[in-house]
Amino acid sequence: MHSREPGTRRRVSYAIRLMFAGADREDMQEILFDEQTIAARIRTLAEQISKDYAGKELVMLCILKGAFIFSADLMRRLTIPVTVEFIQAASYGSSRDSSHEIVIKKDIEAGIEGKHLLLADTIIDTGVTMDCLMRTFQARNPASIRAVALLDKKDRRIIEVPVAYLGFEIPDVFVVGYGMDYGERYRNLPYIASLREE
Ligand code: IMP
Ligand code: MG
Repeated sequence: MHSREPGTRRRVSYAIRLMFAGADREDMQEILFDEQTIAARIRTLAEQISKDYAGKELVMLCILKGAFIFSADLMRRLTIPVTVEFIQAASYGSSRDSSHEIVIKKDIEAGIEGKHLLLADTIIDTGVTMDCLMRTFQARNPASIRAVALLDKKDRRIIEVPVAYLGFEIPDVFVVGYGMDYGERYRNLPYIASLREE
């Protein structure tokens, strides 16, 4: 009796998880990039970054929350020494308008003077966030600073920001999954999809 209980509970919880996974999938319009496609692109980006920074040490600055999965996958493919720091930017005003202001909500404690910095975000939209963070960290005298993003909505760009390493360009559609959310949901989806209009 005792030995059967945990197994039953596990099976029930698995069934519930499957139910929710299915529910998420039904909210999606179209899967733009599946797991394999994302992984393949990240392997190529990591190879390029590893080559460009050969003989150097890299500090990856992961922009929370969206980039936690992307940064984790990307850094596991790097073959150079790398450390990671986490930063979080908060945006006041609608992120869909150019006047939205960015403040750094979570900063890093480690000194970055003389270090090679790579700012990582999953998606560049207006460019306001990345531009602000690049300028902020540039002012702290790193040896170099570059940006990597998995996705780029080029049509929506308001501020030109140099993205040294880019995964894919996408049209102006709202996407979720692979770290990206809608009302904090869907970050756990292993693929990137557009949301069905309600
Ligand atoms: P930007 O400052 O307008 O470039 O906005 C960048 C941030 O907006 C990203 O880090 C995301 O958090 C968020 N964002 C922009 N487009 C999307 C999207 O399609 N889905 C989810 N989040 C998005
Ligand atoms: Mg968000």
